[in-house]
Amino acid sequence: MSLHIESVSKVLGGRTIVDDMDLVVETGQLVSLLGPSGCGKTTTLRMIGGFLKPDSGRLLIDGQDVTGISPERRPTAMVFQNYALWPHMTVFKNIAFGLRLRKLPKAEIRAKVEEVLNTVNLSHHIDSYPGRISGGEQQRVALARALVLEPKVLLLDEPLSNLDAKLRERVRDDIREIQQRVGITTVLVTHDQDEALSISDRVAVMTGGRIDQYDPPAVVYRAPRTKFVADFVGTMNLLTATVHGDQLAVGEVKVAFHGEAEDGEQEIGVRPEDVKVSADADGPATVTRVIHRGHYTELVLSLGEERLRAFVSTGAELVEGTAVRVEIARAAVWEAS
Ligand SMILES: Nc1ncnc2c1ncn2[C@@H]1O[C@H](COP(=O)(O)OP(=O)(O)OP(=O)(O)O)[C@@H](O)[C@H]1O
Ligand SMILES: [Mg+2]
Repeated sequence: MSLHIESVSKVLGGRTIVDDMDLVVETGQLVSLLGPSGCGKTTTLRMIGGFLKPDSGRLLIDGQDVTGISPERRPTAMVFQNYALWPHMTVFKNIAFGLRLRKLPKAEIRAKVEEVLNTVNLSHHIDSYPGRISGGEQQRVALARALVLEPKVLLLDEPLSNLDAKLRERVRDDIREIQQRVGITTVLVTHDQDEALSISDRVAVMTGGRIDQYDPPAVVYRAPRTKFVADFVGTMNLLTATVHGDQLAVGEVKVAFHGEAEDGEQEIGVRPEDVKVSADADGPATVTRVIHRGHYTELVLSLGEERLRAFVSTGAELVEGTAVRVEIARAAVWEAS
């Protein structure tokens, strides 16, 4: 079931929060809305779910215009940001709630709840109270509560924000696995680029109510279309440099350059893993910081006035003060904005 957002805008409190947005989510795909706090992610999701009416534009699900349809009659289900389960109800009752509102027969409700609990691997907790199960399990119950309504489009607003780092990764993988198994079209909101890159088919990077780039994760990472995307997604060295064939002048310092960019002064972005560093007593750069990151080491290099971050394999014999030679393997160049 595809979702089309067509020229949707929303003004709240006198400010344009969502600005003429277009987005197409193909059937069965998981798409993330990724952007900093306040950029309009939740507002967009609430409009898709019908909790907020767009000022202009249309929303289509499976080709059908749903713009004027109320949330409960819309083929969507939303897991809200920081939405807790009802503590006084068992897992069964939490999940059954929406089906009861729909006045389904008891036996059918029972069957559907059992089935969805099986999907999220929580059958053994059917009679547990939310307070007695782990945070990750609670999040899966919240997911089950949405899935049981058999929506065509599943909407998840920061579903992992309440979990600690380790658990976040696990539940993230669970969500992806369940989403693929059920084959449900999903829009997930997050401000965590790592999360967006790791579970999405495509990522829409938002800023100020607009989408700067909408591409598969690898493309967003390797070929950011704007400086904002380059800076927001992953670690990026942003430099003003002068390209001259296979040389790059960063301030006074010249380094070897194997990327593709037009000659002349450019604003470029260089991923730390694309910075090659080797000890060289005559090298033009110096290691000013060494940060141990476990399976890799982060170096801060100074090239004259400029700073450059490099990720190198752990074990390299580079210490603070080492003079080094630097090569830049590739660079991102974006459209002027
Ligand atoms: N009802 C409202 N009236 C006025 N302003 C609002 C209203 N709802 C949201 N806003 C503003 O719209 C902007 C976008 O809000 P939104 O909740 O969509 O952001 P978000 O991208 O989800 O951010 P976060 O990552 O913090 O959840 C914010 O500046 C917020 O203050
Ligand atoms: Mg939000």
